[in-house]
Amino acid sequence: MSAPILEARGLAKAYRDRRSRSRPGSRWALRGVDLEVRAGETLGVVGQSGAGKSTLARLLLALEEPTAGEVLFRGQAVSGRRSPGLPELRRRVQIVLQDPMGSLDPRMRVGDIVAEPLRALRIPGDHRARVHEMLEAVGLAPGAARRYPHQFSGGQRQRIAIARALAPRPDVLVADEAVSGLDVSVQAQVLNLLSGLIADLGLTTVLISHDLAVIRYLCRRVLVLYQGQVVEAGSTEELYTEPRHPYTRRLLAAVPEMPGRP
Ligand SMILES: Nc1ncnc2c1ncn2[C@@H]1O[C@H](COP(=O)(O)OP(=O)(O)OP(=O)(O)O)[C@@H](O)[C@H]1O
Ligand SMILES: [Mg+2]
Repeated sequence: MSAPILEARGLAKAYRDRRSRSRPGSRWALRGVDLEVRAGETLGVVGQSGAGKSTLARLLLALEEPTAGEVLFRGQAVSGRRSPGLPELRRRVQIVLQDPMGSLDPRMRVGDIVAEPLRALRIPGDHRARVHEMLEAVGLAPGAARRYPHQFSGGQRQRIAIARALAPRPDVLVADEAVSGLDVSVQAQVLNLLSGLIADLGLTTVLISHDLAVIRYLCRRVLVLYQGQVVEAGSTEELYTEPRHPYTRRLLAAVPEMPGRP
């Protein structure tokens, strides 16, 4: 088996408790999470609201530092501002978030939004050409580059966010609730698009969702996160047919069937 591209070892994160002012202790959002993602793999992370999914995503992208444990990209530590692996991680691992209205600057034209990581990462080459290439890849017309995010539907905005994330040619795509908040039919379209792009570009993917049906659609392997810990891990199909942890069984009971799998 190939070496993991992205790895977490004993990852933990504590935040100061926002709910209790009298008791200024810490709340563990994540506790001792280990994971490995290998090249070309699609790994799902599922868990209910507050399970620690977005915290995990931020730590994997080194947007925050862990309280304990570490993240490695291609075997190099990336947790910590001066970590040797950090520049590579910034370019090679990109993220798509839920709520594109919150993550796409409403005052910027779509062309500039998609080109932004190319500029920020000082990637040489014709940025305009790359933007058009990306817009086409996500099924938007070249004219979209001149328009603003509010002129698009929710599904189209998610396509813009995907175009931006893929513009710098990352190896790994992390998608945090990338299709939540979209209508089911639009969800299926965006999932189809993602699945095609993952296959065409040979992307390694970490798909984070509270919705097991979304995970099942794209991911062979899945981790179940519950109160900041991995309580179950294995193949998605196994998890569907023989869930071991009571929490997984509860998650499954809440899953509506998704139409068709790729
Ligand atoms: N910046 C922060 N400061 C304090 N507490 C935080 C912070 N970020 C997250 N938390 C807490 O950590 C826990 C995990 O939050 P996180 O956002 O990772 O969950 P999630 O699984 O992504 O949930 P959701 O499905 O609602 O997005 C929660 O209890 C949350 O309140
Ligand atoms: Mg979240």
